[in-house]
Amino acid sequence: MTQKINTICVCGAGTMGSGIAQVCATAGYKTILYELNEAVLEKAKASIDKGLKFLLSKNKISAEQKQTIESQIVFTNNFTDCIADLYIEAIIENPEIKIKLFNQLSANNQQAIFATNTSSLSVTSIAERLPNPKHLVGVHFFNPAPVMKLVEIVKTKFTDDAVIEMIEFVIKKMGKTPVICNDAPGFIVNRVARPFYIESLRIAEEGLADFETIDRLLENAGFKMGAFKLMDLIGNDINYTVSCSVYEQLNQPAHLQPSYIQQQKVEQGELGVKTGKGYYEYHDLKE
Ligand SMILES: NC(=O)c1ccc[n+]([C@@H]2O[C@H](COP(=O)([O-])OP(=O)(O)OC[C@H]3O[C@@H](n4cnc5c(N)ncnc54)[C@H](O)[C@@H]3O)[C@@H](O)[C@H]2O)c1
Repeated sequence: MTQKINTICVCGAGTMGSGIAQVCATAGYKTILYELNEAVLEKAKASIDKGLKFLLSKNKISAEQKQTIESQIVFTNNFTDCIADLYIEAIIENPEIKIKLFNQLSANNQQAIFATNTSSLSVTSIAERLPNPKHLVGVHFFNPAPVMKLVEIVKTKFTDDAVIEMIEFVIKKMGKTPVICNDAPGFIVNRVARPFYIESLRIAEEGLADFETIDRLLENAGFKMGAFKLMDLIGNDINYTVSCSVYEQLNQPAHLQPSYIQQQKVEQGELGVKTGKGYYEYHDLKE
């Protein structure tokens, strides 16, 4: 196994990948941000620049630090650039596609550590299909990654203790709070949070209140964000996939059955902040 993490390659530059790359570079790691879609890669570059400008405006970083952080990141859609000590994948929530990517990456680099940012898939089932299951770990960042402190480190029955130690060190160096948990459907936070979304959707399905009213009530009751605003921030495609995955893995409990409203949102391409429209509209935030 690699002895030290110098370079981190983040795969997927969408909602999570761009934020994770910013966090890696800010912690001083050489960072490669790999993404298939050129437009998403450009958007990630702009979003990291915007995030760092915000920190600069708040005097949290200096202009020099901003420049240093940006110079640490290589943005690429060229797979051959992806040589790193640690790979963090933040691509589509689909096990087959994640497994294919990890196998391609490990063909180049057997010694590296491989981390998945999956919200709900079984990390163990991914590990079983890799050449070196001991080197796979879950690192579940929360959205937005530069802001949220918690990172769930997901350990499977295969994960090497030395891998967990190294990842814990990296996550702390990023200024985050790592919590180690065993591999289980939705891990801890997504399992606890699932009824929050599903029950809110059920209230809307039953016509008891509309999205805005439900959100307003929840926020006034003390929740930081209403369920519909939060689903829009997460991405309605991701949230629906995670709902289905946790529901299936827990043997289809009635109270966690995904809502037809979620499916409709995905079919209509109303994915939330990232597409400019979900339960709400986001004219200013789309770019
Ligand atoms: N959105 C959230 O709030 C959130 C929070 C925690 C974890 N996650 C997890 O993080 C992962 C990514 O979620 P997201 O919301 O950032 O998704 P996203 O749809 O915003 O971005 C995924 C990106 O991956 C790219 N991609 C797909 N296949 C690829 C490949 N083979 N190589 C390189 N790039 C590829 C896509 O082009 C897309 O831009 C998922 O596993 C999700 O469950 C999401």
